[in-house]
Amino acid sequence: MHKKLPRSITKAVFPIAGLGTRFLPVTKASPKEMLPIVDKPLIQYAVEEAYAAGIRQMIFVTGRTKRAIEDHFDTAYELESVLEYSHKQQLLESVRNITPDDMHCMYVRQNRALGLGHAILCAEKLVGNSDFAVILADDFMVAEQPVMAQMVEQYHQLQKSIIAVQDVPRSQTNLYGIVSGSEVKPGLFGMSSIVEKPSPNEAPSTMAVVGRYILTSAIFDELKNQQPGIGGEIQLTDGIANLLRKEQVFSYHFSGTRYDCGSKIGYLKAVVDVACNHPEVSEPFSRWLENKAQSTHTQATKPNPANYIA
Ligand code: UTP
Repeated sequence: MHKKLPRSITKAVFPIAGLGTRFLPVTKASPKEMLPIVDKPLIQYAVEEAYAAGIRQMIFVTGRTKRAIEDHFDTAYELESVLEYSHKQQLLESVRNITPDDMHCMYVRQNRALGLGHAILCAEKLVGNSDFAVILADDFMVAEQPVMAQMVEQYHQLQKSIIAVQDVPRSQTNLYGIVSGSEVKPGLFGMSSIVEKPSPNEAPSTMAVVGRYILTSAIFDELKNQQPGIGGEIQLTDGIANLLRKEQVFSYHFSGTRYDCGSKIGYLKAVVDVACNHPEVSEPFSRWLENKAQSTHTQATKPNPANYIA
């Protein structure tokens, strides 16, 4: 008898149809996911992370104002011929490498921002009945082994849904989906509950869900059967809570650093950290940053004559 081969993850869904209100006015007509971390937009980092995990089919759930993302992953004939003509080989490659030949991009529209769960449901026809990855590009990850590759490795052994989690201060549990469960091996937990944004005194733990998921296709039925919540939104957390009643779900404490680039402060931290390690600008930028820190310190400790003017 043949042993059944473990399934692998070939498709990633990128929900990018949110309104990005925390970044207004910049997100009025441009996608939040095109915000640059130095010279690459958030969405490109997210797609590269999926590619590094062996995923080749990228499914974008888009909305109004997101056309720039389709253009970013399309061929730019005019730009490429200008770069070719002027022998700017490195730049030409940086443009061409955005979409490797073996990568396939698909787009589906979420015509109203009815929540993350609803956005994922919009991808059902393109995903079919395979298990799939979900990456939220505004959760920007820096890790030695890309976070989705870590999760796909776990999936190969488990063949179940796996949700990335991170420990957060108890005072912040009301900002996240919070899970509880017991550790089955270092970093991997069998999930026993998941709740959306519990208050700090009600949270079952401080393990917060962040923007990386591997989901079995059974999630679609749960999302379809779900009652919309406040504002008609369909929450992914509720879908996962229902899935948990029927099958095992795991949470995975990934190794790496997460920047919440949906918030201004998280975004700024990401830009500064990446710039400090960027081959082109790290040296002058770090020097500038150091001088700035020193002059801010001197200014803070030096008596300011303006303070004495009545
Ligand atoms: P967020 O909670 O960050 O919402 O969504 P948002 O609209 O992008 O930003 P704010 O809170 O208004 O500033 C998390 C992810 O889910 C996607 C978003 O694009 C983001 O990647 N999303 C959210 C959708 O695709 N559709 C939705 O209806 C809601």
